[in-house]
Amino acid sequence: MNLNKKKIIIANMKMNGSLSFNESFLKNIKINFNKFKNLNIGLCLPYPYLFQAQKFLQNTNINWGGQNVAKFENGPHTGEVSAKMLQEFGAKYVIVGHSERSTAYCESDENIAAKFEKIKKYKMIPVLCVGETLIEREAGIMESVVSSQIKTIIKIFGNEIFENSIIAYEPIWAIGSDMAASPDQANKMCIFIRNLVCENKKEFKNFNIIYGGSVNPKNALQLFASESLDGVLIGRASVNFDEFSHICSRAENGK
Ligand code: 13P
Repeated sequence: MNLNKKKIIIANMKMNGSLSFNESFLKNIKINFNKFKNLNIGLCLPYPYLFQAQKFLQNTNINWGGQNVAKFENGPHTGEVSAKMLQEFGAKYVIVGHSERSTAYCESDENIAAKFEKIKKYKMIPVLCVGETLIEREAGIMESVVSSQIKTIIKIFGNEIFENSIIAYEPIWAIGSDMAASPDQANKMCIFIRNLVCENKKEFKNFNIIYGGSVNPKNALQLFASESLDGVLIGRASVNFDEFSHICSRAENGK
């Protein structure tokens, strides 16, 4: 992790929360998180609750965003939410390509690429999730799997689209499993991703790679010590105020 850079902590709150839970959770964050001066923190909430993030987190050091977006601009797409709508609610980050979506809704890499472009068009920061299954890792093909996920976007839009964006390496076997990748596994893949995206290009000013998958207060410190990781994407632990706050403290203080 580059110590001169602010670390990125993104909460993927998934389908959790309620009006009353969010109100106390967000108020708690507003009061207690202003001590984190060296972090870029973003909470990705379910769509209906974005207004609460806007209400409680405006004018704080905490940002918010969505967990998905439509690939379309607008129109007859029942159930979809556009990038422009997310922007209207002040979203800064948008998770795209999460494996829980690509598996359940058969999202293709081309679909994900189209969504990525929409997020960029509306000046938000995509958090593109990539990662391999356990079978793919055991077969030793994790790099080619991740490479093809990223290359679809590069092929359509060019490497430049990755300026002002985040790639989250989320091995599918580590999500919700209590079996986080080791710092070495995460490190190796993040170096691979950086080389792939930055190939033949000068350094991006703002391109970051984070790790997600069973991040908790216990393993956070080791992950934050990894040279090539710019931060973490947190699932379960992000909806537990104490655990989330603990992980942020570890990122802020390095202990
Ligand atoms: P867990 O932290 O619950 O394993 O979830 C990770 C994740 O999917 C974040 O996007």
